Order: sequence, then structure tokens, then C-alpha cells
Amino acid sequence: MAGPISQRFIDDLLARVDIGELVGERVVLKKAGRNLSGLCPFHDEKSPSFTVSREKQFYHCFGCGAHGNALRFLMEYDRLSFPEAVEQLAQRQGMEVEREDDHLPAAQKEKIAAQRRKRDAGVNLLELASGWFKQQLTEPHADEARRYLNGRGLNSDIIDAFAIGFAPDGWDGLKQYLNGHSVAESVQVEYGLLRQREEDSRTWDLFRNRVIFPIRDWKGRTLGFGGRVLGDAKPKYLNSPETPVFHKGRELYGLYEARQQKGNIARLVVVEGYMDVVALAQNGIHNAVATLGTAITDEHLTRIYRLVDEVVFCFDGDGAGRRAARRALEVALPSMIDGRQARFLFLPEGEDPDSLVRQEGREAFQARIECASPLSEFLFDQAREGVDLKRVEGRERFVAHVLEKLRLLPQGVLHSLLMEELSTRSGISVARLEQFVTPATQSSHVQEQGVVDHAVEGHADNQHAASPGRAAKVHIGTAPITRALHLLVHNPELVSELPEQNDWCPENEDGLLFIEVARLLKAGGYRSSQVLLAHFHGTDQGEPLSALLRRPTDIRREDQATELRALIEMLYQRRQRLSPEEEYQQLLAITREGQKLTATQQQRLLALIEELGRR
Ligand code: UTP
Ligand code: MN
Repeated sequence: MAGPISQRFIDDLLARVDIGELVGERVVLKKAGRNLSGLCPFHDEKSPSFTVSREKQFYHCFGCGAHGNALRFLMEYDRLSFPEAVEQLAQRQGMEVEREDDHLPAAQKEKIAAQRRKRDAGVNLLELASGWFKQQLTEPHADEARRYLNGRGLNSDIIDAFAIGFAPDGWDGLKQYLNGHSVAESVQVEYGLLRQREEDSRTWDLFRNRVIFPIRDWKGRTLGFGGRVLGDAKPKYLNSPETPVFHKGRELYGLYEARQQKGNIARLVVVEGYMDVVALAQNGIHNAVATLGTAITDEHLTRIYRLVDEVVFCFDGDGAGRRAARRALEVALPSMIDGRQARFLFLPEGEDPDSLVRQEGREAFQARIECASPLSEFLFDQAREGVDLKRVEGRERFVAHVLEKLRLLPQGVLHSLLMEELSTRSGISVARLEQFVTPATQSSHVQEQGVVDHAVEGHADNQHAASPGRAAKVHIGTAPITRALHLLVHNPELVSELPEQNDWCPENEDGLLFIEVARLLKAGGYRSSQVLLAHFHGTDQGEPLSALLRRPTDIRREDQATELRALIEMLYQRRQRLSPEEEYQQLLAITREGQKLTATQQQRLLALIEELGRR
């Protein structure tokens, strides 16, 4: 019988898990200062009061009080018992659950002890190996390697910061060293340091006569290595194989080193190679990371957006670079929730960040980063490629291409902006375009009303066929004033919630429309949405208003007044341009008066605490 799970194992397991990642696999999280936040999965809410702290490795919900560590989260979210949660988490980390073995027969005890030794050795052996590689770089036989690194412009500080080392020529230098530290050869093979021949089980060092770049996780633990030849031999780079701790599609080279910088980094620059990351750091650009010889994956992006709100992808200026950029766009679109940014930087043909930064220096390269194209620009450029916008067919292809991409994009500010931009460029109204991106069930309803533009209808249908069963929930995730207008149009009684003055209302199109709608409602002539709509029928505002009315609100009727007040308060703050301190004091004053903060206010307060704490 299996005994109780050993405490030591649980501690070890929790030390290796990143709760941000675990929760992020199940809940959409957004960076909020040092924490992550999102809609609480344990109660029904419309604005996020659920936070996850990576530093403290726990989650907490200000709304319902749910609270705990990674194991607690799995138990609650996946409805697992404690042992099941441990089992699942262990599996995710590639570990085997270890149990107290006091009451077990000797043979089984021995087996468990062997497993434990193997796992501990696995952890240690990568650190041991990394230390050995570093040491080797200081030995006389590393002369050529040191010259090579210096020749590539690296000084000893950077070599240290990245823990760069050297694997000397020879078949078993590392193996001898690890054997001397009682690391079983089977473990060395499993962790990718030794190669083993099938026929006779003979083993030899994987990395020989190469400069070694250790690949570390976000906490700095070594997961694997990349090794570069000193000359032109092939393969140029050799990487650790997939092992229990190293998964290429997940790790980013340089992430740990970037995090070592003082203060918060605002963005990460994604480049292709080890040397690009190191050369940029050598030249004072410390926020670059590299994928490990693979295209960017959504796991990479999840990891990146946990840390920063902005990513700049760097590509070669050639055809391969553009292809890679298109792939990156596809991967990035689904994660572009509000507040996140992705930009695209194309380098001159034949150059990489390493060669460029060494040629033109830090400032010039930094300027390139600052000028990288926003995602929207790249998206439109790409849709325009080979298309003649003067012809109807060309415009149709252009619109279809952009809409196809927009389907990957979550609702939110960026989505709205892109729809507007597409509308300007194509001459088709936003309301009409929106009908093409809403899910199939709704658009058939739209078609009955006969408002679909026949020129583009076919494409819209194809897209529906290509992605059946997309989420049927329609969010209105646009600007606060639009959300306020949305609420008011659906529920005209809310007019009684509005302040006397309009000094909170932004002076943009939706703001002015809001004031006009409010004026009519206050005057008392219009009490239902339909009559209100009839008033605007045939005017410029008729279409946007009816589009708003067609979209259901996902806020319960009894919560709508609170939501509206919170939106107005938020807009008011924005117009007053309170300093963060003043806003912070105001929110505190509300709690001091014994009132409860709305979810939006709680979220704002948290963000302010983070912001003020950073100064
Ligand atoms: P590049 O061939 O562009 O190399 O490969 P680089 O980074 O410019 O290297 P230097 O400047 O010649 O030293 C980019 C990345 O692709 C992976 C590595 O991660 C490399 O950094 N790669 C490349 C391999 O894994 N194996 C290879 O043989 C070549
Ligand atoms: Mn290079």
C-alpha cells in the first residue's frame, strides 16, 4: 500500500512550480504591477478582483476571499482531493510522487530512496555541470575559447552574468567529474549531458570543444545548455535534448538574466539567437530573450506577458524573417488582451541584433526598437500585400484577410481600434464589419434582417465554417464610455444614476452621444430602448446605437447601476487627472468611511499600491 505523501516531497514540488503559470493555464491573467490579476474563477464577477503573486506563490481574491497556494488552487479549481492534486502537479513537473516509507517493506523502501537520489542528482547535476563548464573556461586549454568570446566583443562581466563556460575537447571530461560526485551515468544520460550508444552502452560527453551557454529558468535554476563551435563546423549550435526539466518550446534564453536588472523592465525584445541576447546585454540592452531554435509558441508568450505588457519581435529582413513574423502574429493575436502590446521589428537583410548593435551601438539599436511597427500596422501591411485596393475584389480580399485575423483577437480596445481602422480603409461601416466577426448563431439572425454586405458575405460564411462553435458569449470590452453607453441603452432607467454635471464625460464621439442620449432620457420623453432608437433612426448615430443594443450585456440587471457608477467614477478620475497619490487617498477615504469598494475600485487601488510602491 502507498503510504502518506512525504512532506519533503511536497515542499520540493511547490518550490518548483510557478503558480502564475499554473493558474494562467486555466484563468486569463493580466499583469498588474508585480502581481497578475484576472476574473476570479471561484465566484461570478465582471471586473477582476483575483490576484496571483508570483513572489509569494499564492493567489487571493478580494471579492470572495479565496486564497491559497498552487495545491489549494488545483484542489478548488479541478475539484481534486489533496493527494490527487499532488499527483497532478507532480505529473506536470515530470516528477514522481514520493511517500513516507516508514511502514514499507525494505525492497520498496530502497526503490523509493533510489528514485529520490536520482531526482536530487538530476537537479544538482545541471548546476554541477554548469560550474564545471565555467571553471573550464578559466583553464589554459580554453585559450582559444576565451579569444573567441573576446573576438565577439564580450567582456568578463557579461561572461559571468550569463555564466558562459567551455566544454573542452575530449570524450569524458564532464563524465569523469560527475562520476566523481557520485552522479549515476544513467542520470547524466537522462539529463542530456552524456550520449549513449545502443549497441554497447558506451557513453561520452555531448558537449565537446564548444562555448557553453547555460539555459536557466526564471528563478535561475539551470535547465540545460547550448553549445557553440569555435569555428565553422556543423552543427553550429548544439542544444540539450528534451529532458525531465528542459522543454524547448517553453523556455526563453536570457529571461533570468533580464530579470536580474534593477527596477522593472517594461518590455521584452524577442530575438533568435544566444549570441544576440548576450551581445545586446554587452551593449547595455538587457531586456532581450531568445527562443531556443524554435518558432515562438503561445507558452513563450504566456511567460512573457506574465512579466511585461509589451513584446517586440525581432526578425531578419529576408523572406524567412517575414514568414516567421507572420507565424508570430498568429501566435500573438489570441493573447492580445487590453493593456498588452506586440510590435514587429525588421532588421536590414543579412544583419542580426548581434551584428547590428556592435556596428551602430546601443542608441541606434534602441531607436530601432522604439520605432518597431505596432501589431496593427504589421497586420494591415500584410493584408495589403499583393492586393489592389482600387478594385472591389482586392478590397474584399483585404477585408477578409483582416477579419480572419481579428477573429483570433479577444474583444477589447485593440479589437475596436482595428475594426475602426479597417472600416476607414475599406469604406465598410464598423457595425457591418462587426456582424461578420460575431459568432455564426448571431450572424444568421443578422442575415435575416438583410443587412449583410453581399460583397463580403461569402467570406464571412467561410470563416464561420472554418471555426465552428467559437465562444458564443459576446463581450463589449471597449472604452469605459462605450460600456457606459451600452448599459444606458439597454437599461434606460439607469438615467436616474447619472450625476447632474457632465464634467466626467469624455469629449469624444461616444461621450457626446452619451450626453445626448442622457439628455433625451432625462427629459422624460423616451423610456424604452426601442423608442430611443427610433429617435436616432436614419441619423449617423442610429447605426452605432442599434449595434450596441443588439449586443447583450453580460452584467446582471441588479449590478448595472453599480457598474455604471464605477465607470463614471473612473472617467471622472481620468478627467480630473488626479495624481496617483491623490487617487489613492480618495479610494482610501471611501474605505475609511466604512463603504465598500466596487470591484473596479479595488482593482484600481491594488494597481495604485503597486505603482506607488515602486517609486
Ligand atoms: P543563427 O544561425 O542565426 O545563429 O541561429 P546566431 O545566433 O547568429 O549565431 P552566431 O552569431 O553565428 O553565433 C539562431 C539560433 O538558432 C539556433 C540557436 O538557438 C541559435 O542561437 N540554432 C542555430 C541551433 O539550435 N542549431 C544550429 O545549428 C544553428
Ligand atoms: Mn549571429
